Amino acid sequence: MGKKLGLVLAGVALLIVGAIGGIKYAGDNRATIVGDTSRYAEATTGGALTRSVGGSGTGNVHEVRDGDSIQATVAAASEGDVIRVFPGTYSETVYIDKDDLVISGVVIDGAWPVMEGNKELNDAVLYSGNNITIENLQIQHYKGNAIMGQAGNNFLIRNNNIIDTGVYGIFPEFGENGLITHNVLSGIEDAAIYVGMCDYIHVTNNEVFDNVAGIEIENTRHSIVENNYVHDNTGGILVFITPGLPIKTTFDTIVRNNFVVDNNTPNFGIPGSTVAGIPAGTGILNMAGDQTTIEGNVITGNQTIGILITDHMNAPNVVLDPGADPNSDEIAILDNMMWNNGYDTIPEIEALKALNLVEGDAQILNIGTSSNSCILDPDKYVTVGLRDFGTCGFTTTAATTTYLLEEPAERRIIAAEDMGKRAYYGVCAGCHAYNIKMIGPPTQVIQALYMDNPQGIVDYITNPVKKRDDYPEMPPQNYLSDEVRMAAAEYMLSVRN
Ligand code: HEC
Repeated sequence: MGKKLGLVLAGVALLIVGAIGGIKYAGDNRATIVGDTSRYAEATTGGALTRSVGGSGTGNVHEVRDGDSIQATVAAASEGDVIRVFPGTYSETVYIDKDDLVISGVVIDGAWPVMEGNKELNDAVLYSGNNITIENLQIQHYKGNAIMGQAGNNFLIRNNNIIDTGVYGIFPEFGENGLITHNVLSGIEDAAIYVGMCDYIHVTNNEVFDNVAGIEIENTRHSIVENNYVHDNTGGILVFITPGLPIKTTFDTIVRNNFVVDNNTPNFGIPGSTVAGIPAGTGILNMAGDQTTIEGNVITGNQTIGILITDHMNAPNVVLDPGADPNSDEIAILDNMMWNNGYDTIPEIEALKALNLVEGDAQILNIGTSSNSCILDPDKYVTVGLRDFGTCGFTTTAATTTYLLEEPAERRIIAAEDMGKRAYYGVCAGCHAYNIKMIGPPTQVIQALYMDNPQGIVDYITNPVKKRDDYPEMPPQNYLSDEVRMAAAEYMLSVRN
């Protein structure tokens, strides 16, 4: 144990030396999570827990300096390579469609490499490769996403400072086995950290503030959100199912040991989108997610409610999906530190309090049916709608250190016939759901417009024009090959829910 920790610290020291020397990348870009293994006896078989995410860093090192192009360097790089980005201003979009690359900013004397979108560019980094590391970048003023993953597995996104990058900040879509850690994100219109349709994810030690949604776990399985500082957003941490996406479940989520503080920022989400329906002052929200365990969080100063559990029927801006269970089942609320929440709540919650003869500021609210859910020590909090919650048969999730995989997830190998599905899941479904408004119009609406005209879709997405006043612009998808665009268009016309 002690030895491993020493090794990790040595790795950090090497990284610093590497940065100063400016010659060789010496960082250990594998993620090592060190835990008190005696406590985690159930989860591990001794030794520190090492998980493999990110690029291997075993290849050549490329240097990018102010005035150079990161994208040109990515195009020239091979698997295993490291791209070191030195302080300077880079106004570009970087597309990574190869596997095993490290994009590593170098911070010198407090000067960062800055990716600057000038509110003209859509995305800073889009990766579809597996085993990608993106670290130490300041990314600001884009219109779409700071870092979006499109079906890439084994990603590592850390130490980035992300400011006002439009719709989403860090957005892995349809990826397995990923670690998002030590990032700071602010000023995002939808979700700052948005984990969409993923599996085996760890989100830890990030700070998110001044966003509409702080951290969002959506249509995702086996994830842990811990040790984050989530403050001054409209809603802090959200675990939910968005109906109408190709993956229909969210389950096995642990939300623990986070600070969820003062999330009262007025909602500035895109009108009609799911997050635009979140009342300002919501600490933690679970909507239709199953097996969510909420433990050890400090939840305070959230004016509407500390913890809100709801089903789809009671949520605004949501249409039911016959393929998705609308209820929040098997929720476990363990010991949390809660005070001063719900002090200036919405009329709907006031009405529920009155109906249930609850006095005082409500800390925890459940609306709708929730089967096999439990709460430890319910008398500690003012609660509404938790009549059917039992007593939990366990008191901690500590034995589960991480859901990251011991061996990296296999790289996705795509058969020709799956190309359209992968592009739709990994790219389009980030903004288009079947029957509800997300960032873009519902797929159903697009199907009615284009029927059997996939070429029309290809033409539009290659060069989108602004059509609707109540939607943002759609970013061009011309970085995808003709073949992939056509496959995505055909798939979009064929999906049925
Ligand atoms: C970052 C979000 C985003 C992504 C990703 C995205 N779209 Fe869109 N899409 C939009 C928005 C927003 C609009 C509405 C634009 C408008 O009406 O001005 C739109 C509109 C459309 C339309 C309607 C065109 C029309 O004539 O009305 C089609 C077709 C479309 N998208 C297809 C796709 C496909 C296919 C993909 C995946 C390859 C995709 N979109 C990915 C946001 C997105």
